[in-house]
Amino acid sequence: MNSLKHLAIIMDGNGRWAKKQGLIRTKGHEAGANVVEAMCEFCIRNDIKILSLYAFSTENWSRPKSEVDFLMDLLLKFLVSKKESFIKNEINFNVIGDIIPFNDKLRDEISNLKSLTKDNKKLKLNLAINYGAKDEILRALKRMQEQNLDINEANLEANLDESEPIDLLIRTGGEKRLSNFMLIQASYAELAFTDTLWPDFTSLELEKIVQNFYQISRRFGGL
Ligand code: IPE
Ligand code: IPE
Ligand code: MG
Repeated sequence: MNSLKHLAIIMDGNGRWAKKQGLIRTKGHEAGANVVEAMCEFCIRNDIKILSLYAFSTENWSRPKSEVDFLMDLLLKFLVSKKESFIKNEINFNVIGDIIPFNDKLRDEISNLKSLTKDNKKLKLNLAINYGAKDEILRALKRMQEQNLDINEANLEANLDESEPIDLLIRTGGEKRLSNFMLIQASYAELAFTDTLWPDFTSLELEKIVQNFYQISRRFGGL
């Protein structure tokens, strides 16, 4: 049976979920944010140590300003409202992506939550915001250059926002693409795509995908 240490999810389909119910897109983002806690709890129950969630890509800035503003606001509300539950559930909150473009309030809340939860060991939650794999690789290379490090795989991986390879990568919302998400970490990830729109995704469906993952023959190029 495969071991599942690092699970990653591209949380897609919020806008379409809202449209289907005759609601504005932003209602889908609100509904989507509410799914995250159940996913964290599932990981803790199943001894999955890292959960990486794609919440806002480097390309998502190209959406209408009103939607981007809403998402920034929602992100701040999410961080504030989840503080207690992250502490209670012993979740180590982390961000992957470049937080420099975010406003002071958001950046302060991120660093506050990171430091409050830094010793928690049950689950490392990576929230990918202003995240793009190409941007992450460039930032890693710059860090390597600053430290005069040799260019090799170990140094590159060590300087990424997250070094641990992904075992299972799920994308909801029906599209079969990675959209610039964790391209290096996903090198040997098992991929699972579901048509379920993110706000409708449940731990029951996650359980089925995970059970299927356990049975896959992973060869990593060997026999
Ligand atoms: C994913 O849902 C959330 C973000 C990218 C912020 P979408 O907003 O992409 O929803 P769809 O794909 O348009 O339905
Ligand atoms: C990927 O979804 C990014 C997130 C889920 C945060 P998108 O909706 O932005 O991806 P594309 O545009 O369909 O590739
Ligand atoms: Mg989408």
